[in-house]
Amino acid sequence: MHTVDEFARLKAAHRKISIVTAYDAWSARLIARSNVDAILVGDSAAMVVHGYPTTLAATVGLMAMHTRAVARAAAGKFVIADLPFLSFRKGIPAAITAVGALVTGGAQAVKLEGIDGHEEIIRHIVGSGVPVMGHIGLTPQSVNQLGGFRVQGRNGVDAARLLRQAHALEDLGVFSIVLECVPADLATHITSELSVPTIGIGAGVGTDGQVLVLHDLLGLDMSRAPRFVRRYVDGERLLTDALNEYDADVKETRFPTAEESYS
Ligand code: KIV
Repeated sequence: MHTVDEFARLKAAHRKISIVTAYDAWSARLIARSNVDAILVGDSAAMVVHGYPTTLAATVGLMAMHTRAVARAAAGKFVIADLPFLSFRKGIPAAITAVGALVTGGAQAVKLEGIDGHEEIIRHIVGSGVPVMGHIGLTPQSVNQLGGFRVQGRNGVDAARLLRQAHALEDLGVFSIVLECVPADLATHITSELSVPTIGIGAGVGTDGQVLVLHDLLGLDMSRAPRFVRRYVDGERLLTDALNEYDADVKETRFPTAEESYS
């Protein structure tokens, strides 16, 4: 996928959309060579790459740096970058500065969490010609208000709020909406009501697409195991085995060989 209009086209064609996070040139190159449709430079970088307990530590500078690294290797694959915590809540000029840092860094679209209270900013970003992806349900930047990383929309009032927010985001002109940690039947219902595609993470199979954190799907971080993660490879074990093999080869003088040395 190279352009934003393909999101609507794929929804209309009932073809599911796959998105994976990347934070650096190496992982972007890997995804660029795969069939995965698009790349998200998620603010999960704060947790996955920088070791913070939440995404709140991500800053515009940090996200712009990761976005530039990803964009250099994305080979034209569609890149969406996360607007970090509070960056779009300091008024329109500050929000546009943050958007500018991500888009000039190579992102084709930005993602922002929530909607209530920042409708004007979303309208302004969309009106400035920047595609916006919404994100509702479990919005990790609000983890302190939500009281933890919990499934959202389990009771009627919360479910109605999520449906209202999804419609409001669509009305504001977003091109897609991430539904995170939402009961599968609610996510399917929201998806059926919208003309823009929904992208699920922990939202069941009824959304128009899925997004996963690269390190989760490659099994590179065995300490993080939300229920919705599927590990396609035990990357941590494979890589640890490789490191231990290298260590043994060094200590037993099996590495380097003559072929791996200069005469
Ligand atoms: O930051 C992130 O990686 C995300 C996705 C998991 C949706 O927002």
